[in-house]
Amino acid sequence: VEQKQEFSRGLEGVIAAETKIGYVDGINGILAYRGYDIETLTNQSNYEEVSYLLLYGKLPSEKEYIEYVSELKKEMYIEDDVYELIKKISRTAHPMSSLRTVVSYIGGKDKTSVDPDVKQQEEIGIKLIAKMPTIVAAIKRASSGEDFIKPDPELSYAANFFYQSAGRKPDTVEAKMMDTALILHADHGMNASTFSAMLTISTLSDMYSAITSAISTLKGPLHGGANERALALIKETGSPDNAEKVLSEKMEKKEKIMGFGHRVYKVYDPRAKILKGYAEYITKKNGQEKLFQTATKIEDLMVNRLGEKGIFPNVDFYSGILYYSIGFPPDVFTPIFAVGRISGWVARSYEYVQNNRLFRPRSRYAGEKAPRRYVPINERN
Ligand code: SDX
Repeated sequence: VEQKQEFSRGLEGVIAAETKIGYVDGINGILAYRGYDIETLTNQSNYEEVSYLLLYGKLPSEKEYIEYVSELKKEMYIEDDVYELIKKISRTAHPMSSLRTVVSYIGGKDKTSVDPDVKQQEEIGIKLIAKMPTIVAAIKRASSGEDFIKPDPELSYAANFFYQSAGRKPDTVEAKMMDTALILHADHGMNASTFSAMLTISTLSDMYSAITSAISTLKGPLHGGANERALALIKETGSPDNAEKVLSEKMEKKEKIMGFGHRVYKVYDPRAKILKGYAEYITKKNGQEKLFQTATKIEDLMVNRLGEKGIFPNVDFYSGILYYSIGFPPDVFTPIFAVGRISGWVARSYEYVQNNRLFRPRSRYAGEKAPRRYVPINERN
């Protein structure tokens, strides 16, 4: 039977689960979390509330919001041995490798992760949502040779992440930009890293292991790793009139242009539109207009060449310019993606494990026909 069965490479187009959490319309360029579109949420909500929405399916009442935020603030600290580990590994490891290690290490210390029931999986998930900004900020500080900054309970989630990373409190625009970027990265259907988390928890493994799988998956350049490489491309191009030459060389070598194309969006990624607006604002404010003009030139050329194939900028194309312009080093861009996406990873793993079905697909065998005769080694040529 398996010989004849058709299969979809990379599971393209395969519906692998049912969800109520998020909706991606790749034809009309719409992204909605629990039915609220990202334009509404980035304008009127904040990351804490969006994280609650993804997890529990509704906007919190004032009382629920206060309780949830105080739970996040209680759990946002990490212990001294974790800071020590971060200091040690950050001398050599890429920040995404450090993030993978630290989440795994923290999981090893949490006894509730040995054989967690569904409630414990939720509790572990909230701990991880609370701790991700603290961990990523500490990794950024250690890899830049800077002293650690402990969380400030007075600050919002996004502002606290900025403060612990930059060593100064953000101004209102910087805080709004970071909050918006985290909301835009919070969830995105069955993307590879979310699927990786769900696959892991479907064996009833623990949420730390599921998030470690997700971080490992997000690291790749075809997924979260693209934002770091997109900025490198823009900087390598240097100026708008160099864009044609650089792109032609890469296209000749059949190289993928980082920050463009998407498995689902065949139109402009709605997240890229919002991030582009902030990138334009902050580069103008910081006197880095050339960076933005180079990026838009690359965009125009790419859309002219490949637009009719449905290839447009995705979330990773402008996010790097934004993070760079507010002082983040490029190798921390993908960890910032993970700070946003932690809520989607937890929400979808938690949703799935409540009505669990072990993920176990099949493969079509195309190898040698069995049984093959075993030839003793002294008779082989
Ligand atoms: C994210 O899944 C998610 O939702 C992910 C994400 C999320 O929020 O979780 O949205 C975040 O990962 C965004 C994507 C970031 N990755 C990149 O920017 C890397 C560059 N992009 C490509 O590698 C690619 O577009 C993918 C991986 C994003 C999607 O790839 P697909 O669906 O497997 O498409 P494909 O590689 O089969 O390409 C189809 C055609 C090919 O041409 P042909 O061989 O048919 O002639 O389009 C071409 C590709 O060569 N193409 C590109 C291209 N992307 C697709 N050509 C040049 N540059 C590109 N970026």
